[in-house]
Amino acid sequence: MNGIFYFSSTGNSLFIAEQIKAELGGEIRFIPRFTGDVNTYDKIIIISPIHSFGLPTLVYDFIVAIKSAKPLYIVLNHGGMEAYAPYFTYQLCKEKGLNIRSVQALMMPEIYTLTFSPPKFSINLVLRKAPKRLKPIIEAIRDDREISIPRPKRDKWTPKYLKNRTMWHMLAKDFSITEHCTHCEKCIRICPTKNIKYENGTIVFGNQCVACLSCYHRCPEKAIVYKNKRKKDRYVNPLIEEKNIGADQF
Ligand SMILES: Cc1cc2nc3c(=O)[nH]c(=O)nc-3n(C[C@H](O)[C@H](O)[C@H](O)COP(=O)(O)O)c2cc1C
Ligand code: SF4
Ligand code: SF4
Repeated sequence: MNGIFYFSSTGNSLFIAEQIKAELGGEIRFIPRFTGDVNTYDKIIIISPIHSFGLPTLVYDFIVAIKSAKPLYIVLNHGGMEAYAPYFTYQLCKEKGLNIRSVQALMMPEIYTLTFSPPKFSINLVLRKAPKRLKPIIEAIRDDREISIPRPKRDKWTPKYLKNRTMWHMLAKDFSITEHCTHCEKCIRICPTKNIKYENGTIVFGNQCVACLSCYHRCPEKAIVYKNKRKKDRYVNPLIEEKNIGADQF
């Protein structure tokens, strides 16, 4: 059986995971909550967004911890700037001695929209194109096609990724809560690192932020704002059910 492991803040990676499950079968498992053994699966398929030209912290840690010779397939998705994240990921798997078969990538709507957002029509266009872009990716996994990724001539992106990663824990320091907060505590429940607490009548952020933006996008009141900007747009992938982000599907 396929183990389809995913990390997702706003559902783009979950959408891909669900498409793979529909085509190839398997169990969908949310990486931050997975405590089992990946070796219970025949194929390991990892779906992850690209964060800052590389991997989200929790996905990086998950890959590094894998001890398995099972075939591994990785599907990355990004907002239009994959940089050398596929190479970085491929190389990481090789260095760890994993049986990496392919690292593939496709574009999905951009969610790093704290200061700038793409227009609605371009989000809709990317969503419309997603199933077609995904088709050959799923076929390559189904056919166990090996896709190696050559070393780029000059990798200027990986150093940027490694530097940015060291600052992610500070991102939530620039979040604040507006008067629209209803104290529903959803942000506390969905934060993958338990970085959000309710203290002295308000929501507070700790030092464990991984900059995933789940809380920012999914607060029902848009009450989490960045650097006191009252930006109104938030995003959740419309092709999945939001309640399934963070859940397993058997
Ligand atoms: C912290 C952070 C960094 C990101 N960095 C990149 C990036 O370097 N290049 C890019 O194209 N998209 C980047 N994105 C956008 C996401 O990769 C993209 O929107 C993805 O589809 C989100 O998937 P999800 O909904 O499953 O989390 C970033 C998003 C976040 C939250
Ligand atoms: S999800 Fe939004 S409304 Fe609910 S407690 Fe958090 S900040 Fe407040
Ligand atoms: S505080 Fe928000 S952005 Fe930071 S890890 Fe938690 S959900 Fe993600």
